[in-house]
Amino acid sequence: MTLRSPVRSEELSARERYELLTSLVVPRPIGWLSTRGPDGVANLAPFSYFSALSASPMLIGVSIGHRSTGPKDSLVNIRASGAFCVNVVDVPHLESMNASSIDSGPEHDEFRHAGLTAVESPLVDAPYVSGVPAVLHCRLHREVDIGAEANTLIVGLVVGTSLDDALTQVEGSRYVRTESLRPVGRLWGPAYSMPGEIRVLPRPRPDSPG
Ligand SMILES: Cc1cc2nc3c(=O)[nH]c(=O)nc-3n(C[C@H](O)[C@H](O)[C@H](O)COP(=O)(O)O)c2cc1C
Repeated sequence: MTLRSPVRSEELSARERYELLTSLVVPRPIGWLSTRGPDGVANLAPFSYFSALSASPMLIGVSIGHRSTGPKDSLVNIRASGAFCVNVVDVPHLESMNASSIDSGPEHDEFRHAGLTAVESPLVDAPYVSGVPAVLHCRLHREVDIGAEANTLIVGLVVGTSLDDALTQVEGSRYVRTESLRPVGRLWGPAYSMPGEIRVLPRPRPDSPG
């Protein structure tokens, strides 16, 4: 393969930057965020600018874009309640996750729109999605303004995790077996990846030959 000469990011439009970045940094996990608004309405939306940041403390990050009319409902709710849940999107929830991404006002409950049931988190002031394989219960740790194109990075402290009984774990550890989790990954635009082949590769040790 021969790399073409680099395209400078500042020569691209915002749309082109988005298209390149989100089709090259793949697959991305989806943080399916559930929150509750100050008026009590439950809110649910997927975010694929999402990743694990640190294990101790247990932190995750999610970058939430703003609309021309103001911050998205998830951000408004996280600011107000200081809490949210991250629901793991497995293969059976692909379509309901997509349905929950509808651009609707704060008065709309996306749980209802997507045919899902909200259950109150026992740990934080937020609902989670009934039936998902795993939930991270989070408190707002830090909010970082990340620039002119209006994105806000939310750093969440994971105060607890819930696992479905059907999940299996690697013996002697808390690793969840990916085969039992069946997570969906975000590719570009409306494209998603389903779990495929898994290869287990021990890390090289300094004293091992080669
Ligand atoms: C798979 C997927 C990933 C998404 N990732 C993001 C993201 O990382 N950041 C973002 O601002 N919007 C993202 N969106 C769009 C939001 O889900 C959408 O704007 C949603 O309506 C926001 O809802 P809210 O106003 O209730 O917070 C994504 C949509 C989909 C379908």
